[in-house]
Amino acid sequence: MKIASVLIAAALVAMTGSGAARAQDGAAGEKVFAKCLQCHHIGVGAKNFYGPELNGLIGRKAGSVPGYNYSDATKNSGIVWSETTLRTYLKQPKHDVPGTNMTFPGLQNEADISNVIAYIKQFGADGKQI
Ligand code: HEC
Repeated sequence: MKIASVLIAAALVAMTGSGAARAQDGAAGEKVFAKCLQCHHIGVGAKNFYGPELNGLIGRKAGSVPGYNYSDATKNSGIVWSETTLRTYLKQPKHDVPGTNMTFPGLQNEADISNVIAYIKQFGADGKQI
């Protein structure tokens, strides 16, 4: 009985630990976004660049920004960007969308992924922070 409760306590600590690591932090995400900035712009007045602008990304259909010349792979991927689809895509873009033009190897660190999603989520379709 006593051992069991120690194990449960240890499991709870482990769960809380990973919960904290996954907590989203937009300010930390802005630093991670520095890696995306060489190709993507976000915010008021953001324009398509080497990659499409990323305003209002959550809920957006992949390959749908007007005036951006997407690969067929992205256009036909059928993906709708959500926290879930972004989480796996940002880890391995070429795995989720074989043939994508996004020549970015991916983010390895789970916390970086959570934080950059939290950062991107702050921008509405008009680029204003929500
Ligand atoms: C070297 C340039 C480059 C970097 C760095 C880069 N991307 Fe991209 N990204 C692209 C290109 C090019 C596309 C368009 C892909 C296509 O048409 O297949 C794209 C597409 C995307 C899309 C799909 C957009 C849509 O409208 O469907 C998302 C989301 C995205 N990138 C997020 C990111 C994030 C977040 C980062 C940083 C962690 C990042 N990218 C880093 C070049 C880049």
